[in-house]
Amino acid sequence: MKRYIINGGRPLHGEVEISGAKNAAVAIIPAALLVDGVCRIENLPQISDVSTLLSILKEMGAEIRVVNKRTVDIDCSRIRTSQATFDIMHRLRASYYLIGSLLGRFGRAEVSMPGGCNFGGVRPIDQHIKGFSAMGADIGIRNGIVTAETSGTLRGSSVYLDVVSVGATINLMLGAALAEGRTLIGNAAREPHIVDLANFLNSMGADIRGAGTNVIKVRGVRRMTGGFYSIIPDQIEAGTYMAAVAGAGGNVVIRDVIPKHLECISGKLREMGVTVVDLEDSVIVQRTGPLLKTHIKTMPYPGFPTDMQPQMSTVLCLAEGTSMVTEGVWDNRFRYTDELIKMGSAIRVIERTAIIEGVPYITGAPIKAGDLRAGAALVIAGLCARGETILEGVSYIERGYEKMVSKLSSLGADIKTAFLADEEPLAEKGAG
Ligand code: EPU
Repeated sequence: MKRYIINGGRPLHGEVEISGAKNAAVAIIPAALLVDGVCRIENLPQISDVSTLLSILKEMGAEIRVVNKRTVDIDCSRIRTSQATFDIMHRLRASYYLIGSLLGRFGRAEVSMPGGCNFGGVRPIDQHIKGFSAMGADIGIRNGIVTAETSGTLRGSSVYLDVVSVGATINLMLGAALAEGRTLIGNAAREPHIVDLANFLNSMGADIRGAGTNVIKVRGVRRMTGGFYSIIPDQIEAGTYMAAVAGAGGNVVIRDVIPKHLECISGKLREMGVTVVDLEDSVIVQRTGPLLKTHIKTMPYPGFPTDMQPQMSTVLCLAEGTSMVTEGVWDNRFRYTDELIKMGSAIRVIERTAIIEGVPYITGAPIKAGDLRAGAALVIAGLCARGETILEGVSYIERGYEKMVSKLSSLGADIKTAFLADEEPLAEKGAG
């Protein structure tokens, strides 16, 4: 069993490069199915979710050429199957984007139900189904397989989402890109990776307008051909390192970011007494004084991202005063707080709100990550704690963070990977 051993209490100093955005990559790779030609995708993060998706496409008949560690050429033009029902699909949430891509390409799809992080409760796909049904697909779910059929191709339609859903917005854009006629997605999500997917599809020949606003208009085109595309930097990876510096103290330049995507995270950190300086494509984060309390409510973009909630709550455990963190996106995303309590944090969770009484210090402990962002938060806890933390469940982290251990080590953290004697490393799992 793989685990991280962290000796906390060292401030972080130096520079860290942020990788390409996981949640953009996991939408753009399935989007290559819609393209009749070679897509060169650059700035792919080296994480297991990306390798899992590439394996799925390869299994379906795509030609994949690794150009360098961050760039691949994907050619899906010879794929003839509309079926993607492999066991590995259960490893990642984003496998459901194959429904939109296969429906768009073939007018039918048979796809295993998605897996991915389960931070409590069900992760429904009713809004995806509602949208595809409005576009003329018949959808059924049986024995963990989603089957979608049309009479030939999807037809453009107006779909108003009942909840702001990143996944449904992306899936419907994928389905609509080659559909007959125009599609309007109302109450659409506006996350940076939605804009990135639209830019990718448009650069391959699609006609998508309004991505980044809450109304997206797609005029279906007959064909998309290949091209080059470079994925945006990962907003959440950047935010995670910003939170790590806030918690552990120090001074770090976080490189290769889009500071605008980080505005709400930078704003909260400033309220907490952290200095954040925006440069053109990097931010400098410095914390030398005490941390101050604040209140956070997560919301769809441009609100505070739910995927930064565990990391920020962890830092607030060490802030002076009482902070309230309310989760506005997921029903239950506070399971990791039990691990923080083992380390001496004072947190009470009432429904969707965590009430965090700041403590002067926390102490290292054996703890376990239950999902990707919880894992990142517990690494931060280990960096801030006095003494040794042994963190299990790290395969979750490696699904979505590229080389976290070596990036943190280069900043001066005392963190290493260890395996229990006689055990092989666990196979990678999926995320997000
Ligand atoms: N929802 C529905 N019906 C649906 C879809 C969603 O009720 O058909 C609800 C969900 O239950 C949730 C809310 O809508 O309460 C938002 O869900 P959304 O569909 O936006 O989430 P997602 O697409 O499944 C993506 C990210 C998550 C991130 C959320 C919210 C990917 C692969 N995953 O999930 O990322 O938390 O958006 O921003 O893009 C992560 O990276 O760690 C991660 C979990």
